[in-house]
Amino acid sequence: SATKPRADDLLAWYDRHRRDLPWRAKPGEAADPYRVWLSEIMLQQTTVVAVRPFYLKFLDRFPTVHVLAQAQEEVVMQAWAGLGYYSRARNLHACAKVVVARYSGVFPSTEEELLKLPGIGAYTAAAVAAIAFNEHAAAVDGNVERVMSRIFTIDEPLPKAKVQIKTLTEELVPTDRPGDFAQALMDLGATICSPKRPACALCPWMSPCQAREQGLQETFPKKQKK
Ligand code: ADE
Repeated sequence: SATKPRADDLLAWYDRHRRDLPWRAKPGEAADPYRVWLSEIMLQQTTVVAVRPFYLKFLDRFPTVHVLAQAQEEVVMQAWAGLGYYSRARNLHACAKVVVARYSGVFPSTEEELLKLPGIGAYTAAAVAAIAFNEHAAAVDGNVERVMSRIFTIDEPLPKAKVQIKTLTEELVPTDRPGDFAQALMDLGATICSPKRPACALCPWMSPCQAREQGLQETFPKKQKK
């Protein structure tokens, strides 16, 4: 029967298939917390394909958290035009101001401190902590919920299962590459462990996947009946 999924198997897959995205540090390079934070805010309700050109243009105009904090509100809103969900832009600007005023322009590195900043919720705090600072944090978004609910055949429906999924994911985070692990899990959910017809034959976690073992992969995650 299925064994515990190993971070190393996922990381080896990531090393071969990692998507080259403009906010990702090249292998061996340090990530820029400002760029990681900006990308995670943009990616909250917008796809990777739609975000990419906006992200590059936005970064060109506001290359550092200092430049963003100094900018006029209307200028920031103007640069956000087209991305939608404008409360994100207002919170982004507010967050930049707090990071400059309260943290001298240096983003805090822990999930707990990040969570206190405007516009940073549970997912974003964990993503920035892991990706920008290699903190031992589990970034759980919808894709990761799907992967984990399949691996562990979680019968509890979403959103009730969220706490259980967060705990299970934390237990899998490796000590050496938490940031790569977070992004590998996102890529796995986006490209292999899709909602319909997941490509199980290509999955580095096929053998530990309990749903796959039972042929039930498409039946997870369970959803709360309305
Ligand atoms: N979606 C949200 N954050 C992401 C990231 N860092 N890489 C790819 N997709 C993402």
